[in-house]
Amino acid sequence: MSRIGIGVIGAGSISAMHLQSYAANPDVELVAIYDLNLARAQHQAAKFGVANAYATLEELLADSAVHAVSICTWNNSHAELAIAALEAGKNVLVEKPLSKTVAEAEMLAAAVSRTGKLLQVGFVRRFSSNAKLLRQFIDAGDLGEIYYAKASNIRRIGNPGGWFADGERAGGGPLIDIGVHVLDLCWFMMGSPKPVTVSGNTYHRLGNRANITNLERYKVSDYDPDKNDVEDLANALIRFENGASLYLETSYSLHALEDELLVGVYGEKGGAELEPSLRFTLESHDTVINVVPQVDLLTFNFDEGFQNEINHFVSLCRGEAEEIAPVSQGVEIMRMLSAIYESAALGREVAL
Ligand SMILES: NC(=O)c1ccc[n+]([C@@H]2O[C@H](COP(=O)([O-])OP(=O)(O)OC[C@H]3O[C@@H](n4cnc5c(N)ncnc54)[C@H](O)[C@@H]3O)[C@@H](O)[C@H]2O)c1
Repeated sequence: MSRIGIGVIGAGSISAMHLQSYAANPDVELVAIYDLNLARAQHQAAKFGVANAYATLEELLADSAVHAVSICTWNNSHAELAIAALEAGKNVLVEKPLSKTVAEAEMLAAAVSRTGKLLQVGFVRRFSSNAKLLRQFIDAGDLGEIYYAKASNIRRIGNPGGWFADGERAGGGPLIDIGVHVLDLCWFMMGSPKPVTVSGNTYHRLGNRANITNLERYKVSDYDPDKNDVEDLANALIRFENGASLYLETSYSLHALEDELLVGVYGEKGGAELEPSLRFTLESHDTVINVVPQVDLLTFNFDEGFQNEINHFVSLCRGEAEEIAPVSQGVEIMRMLSAIYESAALGREVAL
């Protein structure tokens, strides 16, 4: 089969991970890149050997050498761009979160059905080798039925500013940006049970802590210390149809002693922490046994995760793989995120 022609939409920070991974895949030809900011698209094209930098979406979608696209733009444009790409006959890999709203996510799912094209959601952490290993143990029944999960992605001073701090473009704050990763990982490891109720809280108490200038922080290119209208902390308890539950907490700003990443799943026979580092806890001969797998990567590695995600997407486009992050699961995650915001606004539990 000939090589898959790729177009990348959005030429900001995360596009580099997509571009470097496509460039390393021998079954790919990097055909085109488009960004609202043409200079940025031209810069990435030159850096990663992309043949064309386009000034409009129409040019990219009209290019018949583009068979599939990665969408790496602000959250509020994911659905519109993905639907246009699907309608133009392209397969789509869209960055997380799938969309800004549930309504958009559902329109996107309908477009996937209507066009018969492929769409994968950029749940890159599912593709990490530590996640694949944990899934193997779970699928083999080593942990028994998983009935509880804990997902924590806490930053003390981690509001990137710019569009991430603009609810209109991002759809929310840490919950939709970084909470989504750990929520998805836990839910994926639990076997994607159906959520039934959600109780959530969001807080806007500390803002972006722009006053702290002596501690390193990531700033998006259009960082403005005075612009921020997203929550700085969110937490939630999600109950599933099978009786399992999941506790989530995530922040951009919090008076915590340190940043924290935790993805834990707990079953009837054993438990595991995927992050910050893969470890199992099992029981044998009336004894608790903590087990550390002897593998190269015990934690998420950006280069490895993105390479695996992109390789899988390319294989899928070539008809050589099964879906790992289908649109239906992106929609379900959007329903949970949206229900957390709704519950927080109403001050009570909501049913899904
Ligand atoms: N998977 C991950 O670990 C991960 C990490 C970071 C960001 N992301 C996701 O990637 C996406 C982009 O984030 P980023 O950090 O690269 O942001 P960024 O601000 O660095 O880049 C976004 C780019 O998109 C362009 N853009 C916005 N709307 C557009 C449109 N309608 N058409 C064309 N270009 C448009 C902007 O001009 C900008 O260059 C977001 O959805 C974010 O959630 C994922």
